[in-house]
Amino acid sequence: MNPQTPPLEIHALATAPWYVLAHLALALAALVIGTSVLLRRKGDGLHKAMGWAWVCLMLCVALTSFFIQARDRFSLIHLLSILILVSVPLGVMHIRSKRIRSHRITMLSAFAGLVIAGAFTLLPYRMLGRLVFGQG
Ligand code: HEM
Repeated sequence: MNPQTPPLEIHALATAPWYVLAHLALALAALVIGTSVLLRRKGDGLHKAMGWAWVCLMLCVALTSFFIQARDRFSLIHLLSILILVSVPLGVMHIRSKRIRSHRITMLSAFAGLVIAGAFTLLPYRMLGRLVFGQG
């Protein structure tokens, strides 16, 4: 094991603070609902209901991220949180003003942000990375 890497207990998830667990659960739910919204037909009642659920989840994912500070300070990823807090409501405003193309682009970009941020959590020195791939 790299001496720089702190050991990860087997029950790391159980001992993680509430805001990390909340952030993780909300992000995974946003991933599942967001993927379903993208795959099914658009514009019907279910799209609207699932879309609102996804909007709420994304805002909560971004808000809970401000409680998480590796090395006791904000990181570059927190810029993504600010971007999500601005862009997701903007995506809602676009569709309420019938700007379908802008709605599509804004929501797709926010979803891409979710996927990319999720992929980065699998880096070997991060909690999920060490949990999924072992301690290296
Ligand atoms: C499926 C998607 C996601 C998963 C599974 C996930 C999971 C996690 C976990 C487990 C942590 C804490 C442990 C660690 O830092 O290694 C974390 C931290 C963080 N996440 Fe997420 N997250 C996701 C998406 C997002 C999104 C969309 C944002 C922004 C809106 C975000 C912003 C952050 C920030 C700013 C931190 C703190 C990083 C630091 O201080 O270095 N995450 N995430």
